[in-house]
Amino acid sequence: MAVVSMQAIDVPAPSRTYTVTIGDGALDEIGRLVDQSRAPARRFVVSSPLVWRLHGPQLGRGLRGAEPILIPDGERFKLLATVTRIYDALVRVNADRATTIITFGGGVIGDMAGFAAASYLRGIALVHVPTTLLAQVDSAIGGKVGVNHPQGKNLIGAFHQPHAVVVDPLVLGTLPRREFRAGLYEIIKYGMTSSATLFDRLSTERKAIFARTPDVLTPIIAESCRIKADVVVKDEREAGLRRILNFGHTAGHAIEAVTKYRRFRHGEAVGYGMLVAAELARARGALAETDRKALADLIASLGPLPPVADLSATQMLEAMQHDKKVVAGRLHFVLPTAVGATTIVDDVTEKELRAALKQVGFAK
Ligand SMILES: NC(=O)c1ccc[n+]([C@@H]2O[C@H](COP(=O)([O-])OP(=O)(O)OC[C@H]3O[C@@H](n4cnc5c(N)ncnc54)[C@H](O)[C@@H]3O)[C@@H](O)[C@H]2O)c1
Ligand SMILES: [Zn+2]
Repeated sequence: MAVVSMQAIDVPAPSRTYTVTIGDGALDEIGRLVDQSRAPARRFVVSSPLVWRLHGPQLGRGLRGAEPILIPDGERFKLLATVTRIYDALVRVNADRATTIITFGGGVIGDMAGFAAASYLRGIALVHVPTTLLAQVDSAIGGKVGVNHPQGKNLIGAFHQPHAVVVDPLVLGTLPRREFRAGLYEIIKYGMTSSATLFDRLSTERKAIFARTPDVLTPIIAESCRIKADVVVKDEREAGLRRILNFGHTAGHAIEAVTKYRRFRHGEAVGYGMLVAAELARARGALAETDRKALADLIASLGPLPPVADLSATQMLEAMQHDKKVVAGRLHFVLPTAVGATTIVDDVTEKELRAALKQVGFAK
């Protein structure tokens, strides 16, 4: 396949500078791109059986027979026990420090294999080749890796920046529609927090996006990567600015936890979480009703979300207490103040939260 055009976004993060390469057909260039990143030559691909069956042959051609380590990739398997299987495979072949792990899958594979790379021998090289929309625009960039604890999402993890990220939107052709939509909610997040232009493009070009028309979709992916990279470079370890990317995630993570990671895709839970945050902001007078409605309409235009009417506000409040965003006992919320702008608050009361959850459709 002819490579139409490749975009390179440099990510000069304090701990490592790397390049995110985005282009239709980028997968065919994987060998050259990994070489260019100076990632060590002994390479292991970590993937899931499904992703490997669909796209492994294409990746394998570029990597001259790099061996795959296959692990399951549902959110339910995002556990230390699954990461152990990666360690076992590496130990079995005596993988040393001059080893590179190439993750090839969605965010679950990227986070787990990235955590293996961060911890095996106290850290080996990592390259992300994300294959879901969500992973391409979000999880592959920024160096956060980790696994869930039964009591909470991503409670065990590390910061470990990759040597390179290679994004080929053409692999999204096999992605189920629901997974594709799940990624779109994170793109709405970028629009709502950082770019009114991106937000508007999502509504005006919705049909072409859903049709996965490369001319429309690839620039949107690239713009999302640029926003994420920009935030990460300014605040690698989430001391300040990076927290805006948690918009929708305080309630979102709680929804995932109370439904035991089974009912919602991560992105769908974030979709609800954004509605909760927007409602909190509106009720405080921090966000105009027209802007709240623009967000709610855009979210609704992607299609129905799984139901929440059987989930209680009490359960949700309890789950939020285990959130990483609780600092010194105070829950942090990213509240939108307009399309493209946010503020972070730590004084949301239980009463406000209950009212917002009820407004969005949760039970008492
Ligand atoms: N590290 C970060 O900064 C960060 C950011 C956002 C999200 N995340 C994490 O990412 C995870 C969610 O990632 P996800 O939404 O990619 O889910 P996922 O990794 O579970 O992938 C979703 C499904 O898509 C399948 N799949 C992957 N690529 C495919 C393809 N090209 N064609 C067909 N099927 C394909 C997978 O097999 C899986 O069943 C969550 O655990 C979340 O916490 C991490
Ligand atoms: Zn997310």
